[in-house]
Amino acid sequence: MDTQVVIIGGGPSGLLLSQVLNRAGIATVVLERSSRAHVLSRIRAGVLEWGSVELLREAGIGARMDAQGLPHDGTYLTDGDRMVHIDFKALTGRRVMIYGQTEVTEDLYAAQDAMGTTVLHGVEDVVIEDLDAAQASVSFTVEGARRTLTCAYVAGCDGFHGVSRKTIPEAKRQEFERVYPFGWLGILSRTPPVHDELIYANSEHGFALASMRNPNLVRYYVQVPLSDKVEDWSDDRFWTEFKRRIPAQAAAALVTGPSIEKSIAPLRSFVSEPLRWGRLLLLGDAAHIVPPTGAKGLNLAFSDVHYASEALIAALTHGSTAGIDGYSARALQRIWKAMRFSWQMTTMLHQFEGEDSFAAQMRRATLAHLADSETAQKDLAENYIGLPY
Ligand code: APR
Ligand code: PHB
Repeated sequence: MDTQVVIIGGGPSGLLLSQVLNRAGIATVVLERSSRAHVLSRIRAGVLEWGSVELLREAGIGARMDAQGLPHDGTYLTDGDRMVHIDFKALTGRRVMIYGQTEVTEDLYAAQDAMGTTVLHGVEDVVIEDLDAAQASVSFTVEGARRTLTCAYVAGCDGFHGVSRKTIPEAKRQEFERVYPFGWLGILSRTPPVHDELIYANSEHGFALASMRNPNLVRYYVQVPLSDKVEDWSDDRFWTEFKRRIPAQAAAALVTGPSIEKSIAPLRSFVSEPLRWGRLLLLGDAAHIVPPTGAKGLNLAFSDVHYASEALIAALTHGSTAGIDGYSARALQRIWKAMRFSWQMTTMLHQFEGEDSFAAQMRRATLAHLADSETAQKDLAENYIGLPY
């Protein structure tokens, strides 16, 4: 065998898996299509569940996160000017960490460099074969040359558009999907956050989210129709729209400034089952997508890494393959619960085009109930801070 585990994709799932496996003495090769600079230029989520925080610490990459991350004890959900505080700390005893996916990825690359693991960039035309044989094989082109690696297992960490999921025969895959009729327009701006915690805002003008990366860098979003283009949104237009969607009290404190990044992302819920096919395991966005409303995308990728790494270490260090056999069912249990939460948060906070007046009342009533019921708050908090592994 050329290596023990070939990992396809060098995003957060692939890099964290490589990190955890190498620390356990397992040899890996990561195959990434893009350059490192490109992977690091993608602006993604920014909220880590405490389970993710602990996983990163255990993987030896917690130092910068602990120094620079912002622990948050709660968040706000709002209906017009009504602000409902969800106090994670009081309700669950736990909290979340604000630390950007870009920073996590940078820390992972630095740790991989320090350990001297193999991460190949510019890899094209990946073909996965022999998943039901004694050894799997992965062929690919890098720097113009075709190469093949044999291995015990293949980890598909290549995101929603990757090749790994599609290697499972279509007839053996079941896909579940919901596409939402709107997107999120997001901006990054070097300004101080409008509030000390995140604000998920439901308003008569649509949804907005006030998030942050650090005390002088904000990430703000507004819900937009899918037909909108980034070019339609000048900074001025963004600030005007954002300001009227957040509560007046927060709007009064809003500091605006030039955007340093602006993009539109569609919202989708997606799960492909099973997560394991012979010697192939799927992790992260390769197997599932959540709408960003519950901040679950990166955290779900990390719980997959937890389950998959346990299974791979048991198989490759003491020949016990029960974990591999159980991986799909074990990971899917948690995935479906996060799917439900992300869908519920999305439904509770967004305006759906063409909706009737009843739908808006249901959103208002859900938030009113949340404001008055500690039981409802506890349910939200328990899901937001992350269900146990
Ligand atoms: N060959 C090699 N690499 C590939 C291929 C391929 N055919 N297809 C995709 N890739 C690479 C992409 O370039 C990307 O760097 O796989 C990586 C997948 O990374 P992500 O899409 O970030 O997926 P994942 O690592 O599972 O991260 C989970 O959490 O916040 C969410 O969606 C967000 O990216 C985030 C995710
Ligand atoms: C972000 O900071 O980008 C972010 C935070 C919370 C979410 C989604 C995105 O729910």
